[in-house]
Amino acid sequence: MRLMALVLALMTTVADLQGQVTKQSFGKTPDGTPVDIYTLKSGALEARIITYGGIIQTLKVPDKSGKVADVVLGFDSIDGYAGGPKPNPPYFGAIIGRYGNRIAGGKFSLSGKTYEVPKVEPTNALHGGVKGFDKVAWKGKEIPHGVELTYVSPDGDQGFPGKLTTVVRYTLEGNDLKIDYSATSDKDTVVNLTNHSYFNLSGQGNGDILKHEVKINASRYTPVDANLIPTGELAPVEGTPFDFRKPTAVGARIDSDDDQIKKGHGYDHNWVLDSEGKKMAEAAEVFDPSSGRVLQVLTDEPGVQFYTGNFLDGTLTGKEGKTYVHRAALCLETQHFPDSPNHPKFPSTELKAGQRYHTITIFRFSSR
Ligand code: BGC
Repeated sequence: MRLMALVLALMTTVADLQGQVTKQSFGKTPDGTPVDIYTLKSGALEARIITYGGIIQTLKVPDKSGKVADVVLGFDSIDGYAGGPKPNPPYFGAIIGRYGNRIAGGKFSLSGKTYEVPKVEPTNALHGGVKGFDKVAWKGKEIPHGVELTYVSPDGDQGFPGKLTTVVRYTLEGNDLKIDYSATSDKDTVVNLTNHSYFNLSGQGNGDILKHEVKINASRYTPVDANLIPTGELAPVEGTPFDFRKPTAVGARIDSDDDQIKKGHGYDHNWVLDSEGKKMAEAAEVFDPSSGRVLQVLTDEPGVQFYTGNFLDGTLTGKEGKTYVHRAALCLETQHFPDSPNHPKFPSTELKAGQRYHTITIFRFSSR
């Protein structure tokens, strides 16, 4: 009996260690705000999340022989993320809000009122404004297997109506890094949150992702105009370079003579998931033949922005002094469709005062 109790106690300790969360300082932003880094562990998996921008700074994953590598792009210190005149231009690893992706003309109307949000690009708002959720300090709190981040965005922040209280919970359990987003507002508003991790399953800084094989469970996508704003059409992927219903190498058609590919400078489009955001389902799977690592993305969102790092050009130096070449990583940003506030036919991004926005995305890792 006593032996049994001892074994049980030992098993609990091992389980506790597996779900271990530790917190350290990650320095200060240029304006003196302290930033913490939370380390989450599950078996050989390790995720490190910083309170600035809710950024996934490190994500260590074993390959088919058990060798661990960091599979996300980023910076070694807070300066990379928060310093300089234009910090973290690609939004490496960050939580994007209040509105992921573009809003045409930086304008939309809601309940008869027109709102203007700052244009980050010459003609569009992008990723929540000049100072979006990727550039603010979140309040961190340890929770079982993870960290809970809270940010209260005041009414009118970046032009958006309503005081928005956002809570993002990152947990690492089994093979899953789960992101649970929730938000409430005191006025009717629009919300579209996502995470902007850049994955390279061969290890960050290890060349490009053109040989990664991608599957996206979507029969349609939203074609864009020259400013990367959806035209409103839900076009079939059939017979186009956008058909990833069967696993296909990213590079197989990325430079094809296709008008949409040219507009995106590669892939930079929203896919309309067959699950339609009605249930938790697999959106995409990525397989890296060289390491055997597999990333599955599951979500209850109706769309995923598949972006192939077309604007990376080798000028940024990231973690461990690695340079990030053209297409050094890919993003699978689960979300509602870009510019939804201006497309009444798209699934709505409206959040009514007092109601709760809630969405979950899981990054699931394995190897084969
Ligand atoms: C956009 C890209 C943009 C990237 C970094 C993606 O979500 O679709 O066009 O370059 O984010 O900002």
